[in-house]
Amino acid sequence: MSPFLLAALAVRENAHAPYSHFKVGAALEDKLGRVFTGCNVENATYGLTVCAERVAVFKAISEGVRPRDFVRIAVAADTEQPTPPCGACRQILWEFCGDIELTMVNLHGVIETVRLKEIFPRPFDDSFLK
Ligand code: THU
Repeated sequence: MSPFLLAALAVRENAHAPYSHFKVGAALEDKLGRVFTGCNVENATYGLTVCAERVAVFKAISEGVRPRDFVRIAVAADTEQPTPPCGACRQILWEFCGDIELTMVNLHGVIETVRLKEIFPRPFDDSFLK
């Protein structure tokens, strides 16, 4: 398996998921080849939980990566069928990454790669605000 997918699997181990016990990892690569990782971080209120994908995006943005300067993201979870990003994460990914390459991987090495547009075909974005 590629180092990029292994990074998503490795950071998954850091997930703070005492409520769902559902651990997710994400790895996000920018145009310069830098990789930003994230895991889901849950909260006792449930609603304040942040998904792995959004943690990775916000880490990268806070480190100075410019919006849309990303090339691919990997999402790792322990599900038979690879886990896709939730609706909220699809919206955030579209805003910051555009039609990025998205690879989903599980612990058995089942891998599926799509473009974000395939799973988020009619996004709302800033083009509607002009
Ligand atoms: N979760 C993610 O981190 N990413 C996904 O793609 C799906 C869901 C998290 C949120 C919550 O901590 C747990 O998985 C169960 O929904």
